[in-house]
Amino acid sequence: MNVYILSSAEQVAKNCAMLISSQLISKPDSVFGLATGSSPVRCYEYLAQWYKEGLLDFSRATSFNLDEYIGLDAQHEQSYRYFMQEKLFKFINLKQSFLPNGVAENLEEECKRYDDLLASYGGADLQLLGIGRNAHIAFNEPSDVFSAGTRVVDLTQSTINANKRFFESADMVPKKAITMGIGTIMSAKKIVLIATGLDKAEAIKKTIDGDIDPKFPSSILKLHKDTTLLIDREAATLL
Ligand code: GLP
Repeated sequence: MNVYILSSAEQVAKNCAMLISSQLISKPDSVFGLATGSSPVRCYEYLAQWYKEGLLDFSRATSFNLDEYIGLDAQHEQSYRYFMQEKLFKFINLKQSFLPNGVAENLEEECKRYDDLLASYGGADLQLLGIGRNAHIAFNEPSDVFSAGTRVVDLTQSTINANKRFFESADMVPKKAITMGIGTIMSAKKIVLIATGLDKAEAIKKTIDGDIDPKFPSSILKLHKDTTLLIDREAATLL
């Protein structure tokens, strides 16, 4: 695991956008695994800016997002589809973008369809990840086992609490989501995880030091052969 410590959140965002750009330049038809949450927002702004300046061309690139809330359709302002549209997709010329359908009639079938679709594109060339305060990645919460493929999950109270800032109240946060599994994430050729701020320091310590333990889902990344952690000094405090 390559750990790159930067002096500010701004530098983390810019470096992350540079890694995504470099992937796009060296393979214009790249498949990107994308993430939501506040962590990637500034990186997406850089990508939008560099696209506008004519530095990047996404016209042959495809994206697959990690997860989606169950019960929120694409028009819902808190859905991850809407988030991606507002933060990135509407500003760039991606060939196509996929997210799990959180209002699919048959959610089990939707999970399988999503994994099959990603596999038919050869998997992700670069998977971008944020990290939860409890070391969850995508919506893979602490558990007794590492999950395999895309599946339906219950969100933990701590994740609901962390994400309620995007909703009017904690009651409005969906209790379930569709998420890529740990196996799906680990099948990406390259992984870039970004984390900033003191409240991610514990999760980053668990990711880098200590055992590979499904109670700290991100700890599995130690087994991946091409993972880069871009973190700021605050997130690196406990290392
Ligand atoms: C959510 C998302 C994760 C994200 C996490 C951290 O739970 N499903 O993909 O990494 O939030 O979010 P933030 O970047 O806002 O701290």
